[in-house]
Amino acid sequence: LRSETRRPAGFVRYERELRSFERGGSARTLPPRAGCTTRVTFILSGKDKSEPRFGMTMLLPLVWVTAIAAGLLALLLVQKLFFPYFWSDLVFISRLLRYGIRLEVYKKRSKVVTVLDRFVQQAARIPDKPFIIYEGISYTYEDVEERSNRVAHVFQQRGAARRGDTVALLMSNEPDFICVWFGLCKLGCSVAFLNTNIRSRSLLHCFGCCGARTLVVGADLLDTLEDILPSLKQDNINVWAVKMECSLPGVETLLDKLQQAPEDPIPAEQRAVTSLKTPTLYIFTSGTTGLPKAAIITHLQSVKAAGGFWAYGGCSSDVIYISLPLYHSAASLIGIGGTIEIGATCVLKKKFSASQFWGDCRKFNVTIFQYIGELCRYLCNQPKNEKKHKVRMGVGNGLRPEVWKEFHRRFGDVRLCEIYGSTEGNLCFMNHLGKMGAVGRSNFFYKLLFKYDLVRYDKENDEPVRNKKGFCEHVSKGETGLLLSKINEQSPFFGYAGSKQLTDKKLLRDVFVKGDVYFNTGDLMVEDTDGFISFKDRIGDTFRWKGENVGTTEVAEALELVDFIQEANVYGVEIPGNEGRAGMTAIIIKPDRRFDGKKLFQHVLDHLPSYARPLFVRIQETMEVTGTLKQLKFRLVESGFNPSMITEAVYFLDYTGKCYVPLTNSMYNSIVSGQQKL
Ligand SMILES: *[C@@H]1O[C@H](CO)[C@@H](O)[C@H](O)[C@H]1NC(C)=O
Repeated sequence: LRSETRRPAGFVRYERELRSFERGGSARTLPPRAGCTTRVTFILSGKDKSEPRFGMTMLLPLVWVTAIAAGLLALLLVQKLFFPYFWSDLVFISRLLRYGIRLEVYKKRSKVVTVLDRFVQQAARIPDKPFIIYEGISYTYEDVEERSNRVAHVFQQRGAARRGDTVALLMSNEPDFICVWFGLCKLGCSVAFLNTNIRSRSLLHCFGCCGARTLVVGADLLDTLEDILPSLKQDNINVWAVKMECSLPGVETLLDKLQQAPEDPIPAEQRAVTSLKTPTLYIFTSGTTGLPKAAIITHLQSVKAAGGFWAYGGCSSDVIYISLPLYHSAASLIGIGGTIEIGATCVLKKKFSASQFWGDCRKFNVTIFQYIGELCRYLCNQPKNEKKHKVRMGVGNGLRPEVWKEFHRRFGDVRLCEIYGSTEGNLCFMNHLGKMGAVGRSNFFYKLLFKYDLVRYDKENDEPVRNKKGFCEHVSKGETGLLLSKINEQSPFFGYAGSKQLTDKKLLRDVFVKGDVYFNTGDLMVEDTDGFISFKDRIGDTFRWKGENVGTTEVAEALELVDFIQEANVYGVEIPGNEGRAGMTAIIIKPDRRFDGKKLFQHVLDHLPSYARPLFVRIQETMEVTGTLKQLKFRLVESGFNPSMITEAVYFLDYTGKCYVPLTNSMYNSIVSGQQKL
């Protein structure tokens, strides 16, 4: 605060040394320590109402925060017992505010420092520091800076990408993912990250919605392209392979040209933006209506996400382990962006491997790892306990309390930090106190900054409950509700590329008063009396499996292409010992046709990525629908996949027999006991 804002006219500034804290706060309220103080600056509002001139929307809540904080200070000395988390909350929120104010300063000066600018700064400041370690080879900040310059020069010389273009990137985790991404950004392009699992039809669709004219494909993914190459050529899409040579017709190669390209920097004006609200990336999320949607990621979101490690106390000496796919926002925005922000080193893995994890951590002195719930569960399923390592922190989301506990027991005192936030959402929760099972922490400071609400939800009809006046109702503390986040200047929602309709579908209007707009997260959450927020369930048209979002409509549409299926209703069912939900579908067979397990197997193999393939199929005579003719999923979800409880035929996806086979009771038992690999 002190260093980054000028003293605003009409505001009186008070400085007060509050108390000794360990720098950055921690999960506990810490005892005072000698020689280690944190100064907290308060800005109190004076009489002068000169906010508009002041122009810092972020500071307005701050004014209230500080006013309330000062008032409470006296109270708290007496009532400390009733507010056990006050001090840690205050320290944490002041950290977030410091970051928020930096963003406000950019806005004010219209001189934006993006994540890429930050990277270029770091490359100049610490050129020889390892930035990425991949398969045992270390790439310094300077290496990546120079290589991304070469990428930019190649695309520029060939006229393949110009400022304002969108380029699609289909690559697995490797250093060149980052070099190509940064190289293109240096030319002022936006980059669309494509999920490496998606198949032909979805892939083609992705070009349309983000308007990309160029596709860059990693060497290991070229064969997935063969069947759609003619369609791409027809649409005049330039295809580049990250290889030295390539025999596919009409595909350009990048690596051979890279060697001849100069490594000198591209002028910064090329990538300069005047507003943080300029899109920089498109990240695909599962569609609620059919095909994947391209969430628009602006510089604002990427700069915010890059503060994640920092907010949790990451620093330049940290080594960060990234094994999640870079095409998701967690690994790219929080992981790579966060590494750059603190000037640290990351160990990048092509794929997560539970058996290599601790060996890698020891070898590279890893201190922070990024997780999703599944990843921690797989680690806990490993036979050996590991306590000899330097891992001090995990950052991620989706950790269940039982896995959390087990993780501590097996692997020692690793601080696990949950971050909740969807790729496109405008809300973020952080569980900075490390309470097991919570995704976030709310308190009165936080509520001033982020306007979110939990409202009553009707699971049967799959919609929020509206009262007589047509408005939603808050749930009480401890009760499950649908999480909504208010859209306003401070927390904008940028929506999806190419479709206003899709964007509108995520919005809920007239929630508490006429004319208000909320982002519907689709997540059912609970807030307890202490302000800890936990995730309960996901509603509507998507569910998570193996760390990926599955869009039920997209899967249903793919299934309905099979000649004997008249209608498919896709949903997720819980399987004990697994995160998320496994895909299941209820289908109606066309009159005079029969179920063909082999045909269906081949179809889902060809058309759906592995995580989206329904594990269970249930035959139905009729499909129940809601009053608004939506397919009813709730009762199907409730009845699960136990063949002894379901009168209709249930089939199971059998990879060994390459067929959907009737699900027997003994197969059911081996699935729920965890013997059957899924
Ligand atoms: C890891 O730390 C140890 C002890 O601090 C050090 O000897 C070793 O060189 C480090 N390894 C790496 C890869 O940095």
